[in-house]
Amino acid sequence: MRLKDSVLEDNPHWYRDAVIYQVHIKAFADSNADGIGDFRGLTGKLDYLQQLGVTALWLLPFYPSPQRDDGYDIADYYDVNPNYNTLREFKQFLRAAHRRGLRVITELVLNHTSDQHPWFQRARKAKQGSAHRDFYVWSDTPEKYRDARIIFRDFESSNWTWDPVAKANYWHRFYSHQPDLNFDNPKVQAEMLKVIDFWMGLGVDGVRLDAVPYLYEREGTNCENLPETHTFLKKLRAHLDERFKNRLLLSEANQWPEDAAAYFGDGDESNMAFHFPLMPRMFMAIEMEDRFPIVDILDQTPAIPEGCQWAIFLRNHDELTLEMVTDEERDYMYRVYAADPRARINLGIRRRLAPLMKNNRRKIELMNVLLFSMPGTPIIYYGDEIGMGDNYYLGDRNGVRTPMQWNQDRNAGFSQSSPQRLFLPVIIEAEYHYESINVENQERNPSSLLWWMRRTIAMRKNFKAFGCGSLEILPSDNPKVLTFIRSHKDEKILVVINLSRFTQTVTVDLSRYAGMFPEEVFSRNRFPIIQESRYHFTMGQYDYFWFVLRSTEARREPCDEEYLKLKLAEGHPWWDVVNGKAGERFCSFVLPLYLQRVFWFCGKGRVISQITILESCQLKQNDQLFLLTFIKVAYTEWDPEVYLLPLAWISNERLQNVKERYPLEIITPLSLGDIDGFLCDAAYFEEFRELLMKMIHERTKVTGEPVLIWLA
Ligand code: GLC
Ligand code: CA
Repeated sequence: MRLKDSVLEDNPHWYRDAVIYQVHIKAFADSNADGIGDFRGLTGKLDYLQQLGVTALWLLPFYPSPQRDDGYDIADYYDVNPNYNTLREFKQFLRAAHRRGLRVITELVLNHTSDQHPWFQRARKAKQGSAHRDFYVWSDTPEKYRDARIIFRDFESSNWTWDPVAKANYWHRFYSHQPDLNFDNPKVQAEMLKVIDFWMGLGVDGVRLDAVPYLYEREGTNCENLPETHTFLKKLRAHLDERFKNRLLLSEANQWPEDAAAYFGDGDESNMAFHFPLMPRMFMAIEMEDRFPIVDILDQTPAIPEGCQWAIFLRNHDELTLEMVTDEERDYMYRVYAADPRARINLGIRRRLAPLMKNNRRKIELMNVLLFSMPGTPIIYYGDEIGMGDNYYLGDRNGVRTPMQWNQDRNAGFSQSSPQRLFLPVIIEAEYHYESINVENQERNPSSLLWWMRRTIAMRKNFKAFGCGSLEILPSDNPKVLTFIRSHKDEKILVVINLSRFTQTVTVDLSRYAGMFPEEVFSRNRFPIIQESRYHFTMGQYDYFWFVLRSTEARREPCDEEYLKLKLAEGHPWWDVVNGKAGERFCSFVLPLYLQRVFWFCGKGRVISQITILESCQLKQNDQLFLLTFIKVAYTEWDPEVYLLPLAWISNERLQNVKERYPLEIITPLSLGDIDGFLCDAAYFEEFRELLMKMIHERTKVTGEPVLIWLA
């Protein structure tokens, strides 16, 4: 079922098969030449995002803010930063995204505000102990909560800052201009519920709960993941579920797997949570050429409640955080990925994916394949789909937040403003210069990274197992190769990843799947049948495979009759069902079965990889409407063939007549049950034959029998 006014499916678990794109409004596209990206600009780029194949957009904070922490310092929760247009443009953007089937996730920064927020200004002037003062966390001494770590350790030396107006210290887990809200105050909780109601009311599909582990402070604890925080989250979730449908809460809890998984509660807190510890381990695995870091962290990851989902990522707008690794691991990561100390910030590395991979295309692909294969919903950071570079001289984390590179024009096509006016300079370092690394160039070149990303995303979306399936690591004899199976119901995807810079061979125990064969998903090439004995793969450097395991008996899915029935019952004209959008289903489920049963089909012994309708036209003959189609049948190991296939739709009533007149194999084996009609091969109709022949002679040089029209 579709939701009103949009093509969005009515599905409370939509986020499980989503592919999320993380985007900064200011960095994507500038519509009014002021050097800052805005909502109108982003709306204009929705086609691009749709073509990339992503299904949801996560927007970084776009609220009024002094911008001292790039918008995570909010001064007004209910409006749009005037640099990014107004609420009106936001709503237009939201509608346009929904029309394209793209969901929108925004930021709910609940832990803290800007010190410019009216709540803080009011609090510092309010009487001690008053409700207004208690919107924030105050103390006479900076000695309280000493066990809480300092997160922005390159910038702050304490979690307390003295406020001369209030004559007290206020608590802040991040920058000192970001005072923490006091969640012990019920008024603060009520305000946050109001904020979420406002954005959800506008139609936002989900919110990321920024810095959620830090909502409460208690003496003698590290002030993270406290039980009170979970109680509040349950309340927030219940509040949301009562009022809205199909909405998502995504927790940003940079924690070890056990603690992060706690943010799912019993399925009654957030629907999704980031898997922070997995991220650096993917980087470690490829550099160490060893699957261990990944296998180990997956091992430590607890099962999560039904319907919940991990959010997984390679890079984001922050530093590549190394908080969730051991000291040795952190040293290793710095050594291999941030030899230049200027690339380091806080406890992490401020670089983009391509430079981290030393711009090695194979490694960039491999990392993305890892991301798309791991259990969870993948998030792509804007610009990484074209391999954008970074600039860590820009300070803080700005080096990974530079303008999107659209083409080789002024300001990389991002803005018509003077280059001096840009919110941040575009990347001009030779290797990543926007004149070569940009969308337009890559769109023109089918072997570009952008096209690779499009194809890989599209392929991933064909399989439920990636988003919803279980993961089972397959033991193998080569630690440089990671092998695992993702399965969902009958669908089994075998993933084989060579983490090494050299060719490798690997032997895997697939005996449980003996009798099946691996079909490589991009080529549809069939690999040898799996036997009881061990299975071998030989892999080039940084090589990867996605295989779907197919059983030899049922090589194809069963004919999808239910689907056709449904479409026809919905009142679609039958030629739409075979030729319109639904044609894809027709081609992959109905036609292969049909072709196997007609005598004139030449490809019976071969494996069909794909059938496409090249062209079709409608013909009317004696009140009967025919559809003349040219279908292309591609095989895994054979040249493709083109057949001319006339299709007709006849009612049950007429069918009886036809059967009497032409008793031979007129009717296809496709039965549509109580639907009044059959699909049949119209070439058998005498009346039609003449016309058909005329058409064929006009269009092609024909050889052979008129019913066998083979144009290959
Ligand atoms: C989150 C954001 C980060 C921000 C911090 C403080 O960690 O990802 O960008 O600086 O919260 O709001
Ligand atoms: Ca602008």
